[in-house]
Amino acid sequence: MRTPPIDPNRPSSARVYDALLGGTHNFAVDRSVAGRIMEFVPEIGAIARANRAVLHRVVRHAVAHGVRQFVDLGSGIPTEGNTHEVALAADPGARVAYVDVDPTAVLYARELLGDDPRTVVVLGDLREPGAVLADPGLRAVIDLGQPTAILMFAVLHFIPDGAVLDAALSGYREAVAPGSLLAVSHATGGADPAAVDRVADLYNRTGTPLVPRDERQFAALFDGWELVAPGVVHGPRWHPDPDDEPVENPATFLTLVGVGRR
Ligand SMILES: C[S@@+](CC[C@H](N)C(=O)[O-])C[C@H]1O[C@@H](n2cnc3c(N)ncnc32)[C@H](O)[C@@H]1O
Repeated sequence: MRTPPIDPNRPSSARVYDALLGGTHNFAVDRSVAGRIMEFVPEIGAIARANRAVLHRVVRHAVAHGVRQFVDLGSGIPTEGNTHEVALAADPGARVAYVDVDPTAVLYARELLGDDPRTVVVLGDLREPGAVLADPGLRAVIDLGQPTAILMFAVLHFIPDGAVLDAALSGYREAVAPGSLLAVSHATGGADPAAVDRVADLYNRTGTPLVPRDERQFAALFDGWELVAPGVVHGPRWHPDPDDEPVENPATFLTLVGVGRR
């Protein structure tokens, strides 16, 4: 994939999310969208942090269950507790491929990772599993003959229903070895559907449409995978750690999480 230019005048979902997490790799146009989202959902920072926390728990869970390779699709701009940091802390032999379509995310991830042979950063579109998984850099790090966790955190809600989504999901499912995992976090209406609709409207106007899904629609993303316990739940309820922010915060229920095993 040819690297698209970084456009400082057009918001990007990667940089907006970075702004929501309090990062500095964003432009005024991204901060403006993030500010509007905060007006609609004041707890959005807590939601984003809860999303990162469940990503960490999923990675540790995968390693504990013998899966030590990760393909992190829509990985975003590096932030505190990146997938490779969590995975390598759990198992120094872990391998992580980051994949993002946004050149800012790829630029900063490459800067952070340097030339650690256990990690790679690929510029790619997750809707093209054939191209993503054939990337020579990814193949140098990830052995698809071994169980691999496919991570899609806070990204599938940018892909509308249809043949492209179906083909992407089946492409990853068919490419991975038995014992592999699919882990997804996703925006949902949850406790406050009106707020999520307003955020979706905002994203639609930025050129990155947001498609929140309900539990039934979310569960359908796991067709062909066996959902592991506790099944489809709101993010904070997926194997919570005692240190996480309290699950009583209703705003953090705007995210669904599931992990499937092949
Ligand atoms: C909200 S961020 C989530 C980052 C990280 N996965 C997390 O949960 O903390 C969404 C990321 O998905 C990326 N993205 C959106 N559409 C994509 C696509 N079709 N292929 C690859 N990445 C995509 C965006 O560039 C952005 O970095």
